[in-house]
Amino acid sequence: MPFDNNSFTRRSFLKTTAAGAGAAAAGSLFPSFVLAQAPKLRVGLMLPYTGTFTALGVAITNGFKLAVEERGGKLGGRELEYFTVDDESNPAKAPENTNKLVQRDKVDVLIGTVHSGVALGMAKIVRETGVLWINPNAGAGDVTGPLCAPNIFRTSFSNWQTTHALGKVLKERGHKNAVFITWKYAAGEEMLGGFKEGFEKEGGKLVKELFLPFPQVEFQALLTEIANIKPDAVVAFFAGGGAAKFLKDYQAAGLKGKIPLYGPGFLTDGVLDAVGDAAEGIETTLHYADSLDLKKDKAFRLAYAKTYKLQPDVYAVQGYDAGQLLAAGLEAAKGDVGNKQAVIKAMASAKIDSPRGVFTMSAAHNPVQDMYLRKVVGKENKVVGIAWKALADPARGCKAG
Ligand code: PHB
Repeated sequence: MPFDNNSFTRRSFLKTTAAGAGAAAAGSLFPSFVLAQAPKLRVGLMLPYTGTFTALGVAITNGFKLAVEERGGKLGGRELEYFTVDDESNPAKAPENTNKLVQRDKVDVLIGTVHSGVALGMAKIVRETGVLWINPNAGAGDVTGPLCAPNIFRTSFSNWQTTHALGKVLKERGHKNAVFITWKYAAGEEMLGGFKEGFEKEGGKLVKELFLPFPQVEFQALLTEIANIKPDAVVAFFAGGGAAKFLKDYQAAGLKGKIPLYGPGFLTDGVLDAVGDAAEGIETTLHYADSLDLKKDKAFRLAYAKTYKLQPDVYAVQGYDAGQLLAAGLEAAKGDVGNKQAVIKAMASAKIDSPRGVFTMSAAHNPVQDMYLRKVVGKENKVVGIAWKALADPARGCKAG
């Protein structure tokens, strides 16, 4: 697999510090800042800052920067310089956008993105160049499956993980059949797959798969179809602006209270302020919730609200943990990001004290984590229980581990 342990950054870092040390020893007029300061760590943020996932990109950015600020603005003794690209959640532009950061800006680490299709485009370049990549959301299974690599990490979830436990939940609620509705792209299809596998294991039947193209939000025809099918339950994956619109349309179509709605927690995370009572009572599974009784979560929520005058959500947590994971790598390598072996080793074995609860990395570098069962009560995704303890993605096709 592509893995360059002797990268440009490492060489330039060593050259700079060696020159500084030599000049100082000789008592020359060589600028003293060379000795005092390692070059800034170049951090590329490739996230959606326009479109239906805008709020997700912003929350991830906020979370990441909070983790850095909590460490005095430095990771492993290095200050950070940010390079930002709006990927527009557009897979067609993914190679060009990734190259802006990797080739043009020569970032030491790439943080991104939200959309699975964009992440799949990033993966190819990341594997070819060996650049360190921390994915703070996009759940595409291939990224920690067939495309897994030592330099690829994810601090969020695999799409499969977010819906697998829902099968058990629906069974417990007495539902024998269900309809799945989502956007037609990798995330929707894989979340559907994770749910189907889990539900069928419990003897349930997925009777219909309904899709619309990303990022469309014209749900009316599909809601009419659901009303005609009259399934025991509906499971939906939408997120951001699309989730808010779906919840309101589901209620307006008269389906709320008639056919129970479930989903991965993205359906109700970060949207409760926007949807009135349209989400009240909806149960979801996710690796985060609003009312966790954890010291770390309480401190995180307080700091986030104070800094950004906003309540955090799952996306903010994933961005924060991307910062925490990078900190673990850089601290172990004493700031020398070019020492990839040390950085990667520390990141792969890190125990991240996350607001979601402590998690570790699987061999494929995806979080092994508890999946909570949550229920919307007022403006909160309240914890009802743990739907699946320490759920690991099966990492099908990953040979690197
Ligand atoms: C994805 O495309 O992988 C994705 C996007 C938004 C979410 C979750 C997953 O909330």
